[in-house]
Amino acid sequence: MVSLTADMSPLHPDRNLALELVRATEAAAIRSVPFIGRGQKELADGAAVDAMRAFLSTVNFDGVIVIGEGEKDNAPMLFNGENVGTGRGPQCDVAVDPIDGTSLTAAGRNNALSVLAVSDRGTMLDASSVFYMDKLVTGPAGVGVVDIRLPIGENIRLLAKALGKPVDEIVVSVLHRPRHDDLIDQIREAGAGTRLMSDGDVAGGINAARHNARTDMCVGIGGSPEGIVTACAIKALGGHIQGRLWPRDDDEKQKGADAGLKVDGEVYEADDLVRGKNTIFVATGVTNGELVAGVRREGGFVYSESVVIRSASGTLRRINSEHLTSKWL
Ligand code: FBP
Repeated sequence: MVSLTADMSPLHPDRNLALELVRATEAAAIRSVPFIGRGQKELADGAAVDAMRAFLSTVNFDGVIVIGEGEKDNAPMLFNGENVGTGRGPQCDVAVDPIDGTSLTAAGRNNALSVLAVSDRGTMLDASSVFYMDKLVTGPAGVGVVDIRLPIGENIRLLAKALGKPVDEIVVSVLHRPRHDDLIDQIREAGAGTRLMSDGDVAGGINAARHNARTDMCVGIGGSPEGIVTACAIKALGGHIQGRLWPRDDDEKQKGADAGLKVDGEVYEADDLVRGKNTIFVATGVTNGELVAGVRREGGFVYSESVVIRSASGTLRRINSEHLTSKWL
């Protein structure tokens, strides 16, 4: 049974914090509106970063960015190690991705999200020194069933059995990249369908973990930061996530090893990616997607849709907001 009081300690991210944080992803999504479909991904990202940071500075918590926009010198704001929040309230690790899918946003394609995740201080893996992570994500049916060490065909058969449906009804999402050509062939040879994503594997992972979703599994190599952000949501949804770092060359491998990371294909389980039970994940749609609708400007208003997922309760809460355009853009 869920304790209604356990998460009210000032030391832990609580339910009020979850609802405060959604303002930051809403702000990032709204400020990206002028850049959606305008071919300028840096401007879209810059506007989203500025907006998210401005809102985070007003939230009563003591956050440290573990997964941010990069190192301090390259990223003027929301850099790894930056303190965010008022400094009062729960001590948290923070992962931000003001826009996951900057190219999607610039092109006006589906599935771009503004996302933010928090957990108790010291619980998020800092995987920033290795850019890519190989991931396997499913909903709760895959817990204790699938394993990233197994061949993909075997995982598909195991998941189909656990879900009680035929293999040819399984749909696997994967980023459409040349590095995944063999993986895509293997998925299809196993009898499952693919959903090829041009970008945005945070949305891909979460969609695969939700009940009644159109995909059953999300696999393949995407960003490591996106892996940590996704893990915060998947833990709250009770799904399965495993990751393995995928260094691009010997230099990156060494950098990862120096940072104490597992760089030889060892597996990070969900609790290694984010330890502890208190995770909050919030996301606002930038462009339309299966999880949330994209932000939309019309008739003096900007409409946004967001989700808030909290592991303490396991609730996924949807927030639809109407903002006065005159106050924002
Ligand atoms: P950005 O919006 O930060 O560019 O990330 C988009 C994304 O598709 C992520 O969702 C994914 O994890 C990563 O890029 C994959 O990287 P790459 O495009 O190099 O394959």
